[in-house]
Amino acid sequence: ETVDWDAEDTGKSGYDHYMLKEIHEQPTALRQCLRGRVDELAGEITLTELSELDHDGPIQFVACGTSYHAALHAATVCRERGLHANAYVASEYAADRIPVGPETLVIGVTQSGETADTLRALREANRAGARTIGVTNTVGSSATRVCDDVLYIRAGPEIGVAATKTFASQQIALTLLAGQLNGGLSYDAIEALRSVPDQVQTVLDTSRAKTVAEELVGSDAFLFIGRGLAYPVALEGALKFKEITYEHAEGFAAGELKHGPLALVTDETPVFAVVTGDGETARKTISNIKEVEARNAPVVVVTDGCSEAERYADYVLEIPETDDIGAAVVANVQLQLVSYWVANRMGRSIDKPRNLAKSVTVD
Ligand code: G6P
Repeated sequence: ETVDWDAEDTGKSGYDHYMLKEIHEQPTALRQCLRGRVDELAGEITLTELSELDHDGPIQFVACGTSYHAALHAATVCRERGLHANAYVASEYAADRIPVGPETLVIGVTQSGETADTLRALREANRAGARTIGVTNTVGSSATRVCDDVLYIRAGPEIGVAATKTFASQQIALTLLAGQLNGGLSYDAIEALRSVPDQVQTVLDTSRAKTVAEELVGSDAFLFIGRGLAYPVALEGALKFKEITYEHAEGFAAGELKHGPLALVTDETPVFAVVTGDGETARKTISNIKEVEARNAPVVVVTDGCSEAERYADYVLEIPETDDIGAAVVANVQLQLVSYWVANRMGRSIDKPRNLAKSVTVD
């Protein structure tokens, strides 16, 4: 007996696409990223690749695409810990005349380690005398040679052009780096980080994203909102969506909606809102949700059980309760799944979207 056999498909372990396989690999990827690097009891982080990390000056993250969203996440985590940090789009780094000198720490975030724009910004930082660290997935990549130090995200190979597991691994690796730059992380923070792989697994096992995707496919445009650490998640949710569905998708800081984008909102523009925790940040995003709900937009909330947000939602994508860092990783998984199922339903070329390359090595 013979079986139709396609060499391309054998790597997919039964999944229809590499992207779906890689989404499901996230619990394993994250465990690999954390392994040996955190000591819950001592509250200590050990990043053996990095030499002495005492740094008082400004911290600049530079990156492109999905990695830029991880960089935004990292800069916010650093600032929450009292560090002076910002994230920059690598291709704008020179044009923006960002001040950089020997007192600056420049961290390039690049999955492939080969993105021309990011490498150029890192070389410029080297020339200005800054210390540089490359945060990458790829051993032996150009970024590892350009930078003074390297931190590996250990996600394993990613074949799908749209980054999924590498984004989650960047979020976690960069959180560890932020902790390391600031004398460790609290017991609670480390415990929360260690629970993330299991929580991602819970989402993968229980997600209603496919049903939501089937309900909303065919809409005019797809909007994503969040604030604080949920803001980069909104941007990444929209980027993933446009990359693989070819539909119009945009991510906004939730508070910016009323300053323009609200004009786009109709009953044909679903709004995905990421709302977690029960603090001031969540309360403000809920008032933004009310604004779009009043304009009849279908509202999808990604939440850890915030009942106030759920009241205004047409659809709820539930995530386990965790801290804001863990929530950023886990909420993003729900949005990855929505994008995947919409693209799948539309018959898109999910693993190799038109016009896109896994790594862009030209200007
Ligand atoms: C390309 C890919 C994106 C990726 C970006 C940065 O545009 O299509 O998915 O986020 O490059 O890649 P890097 O390897 O530097 O993380």
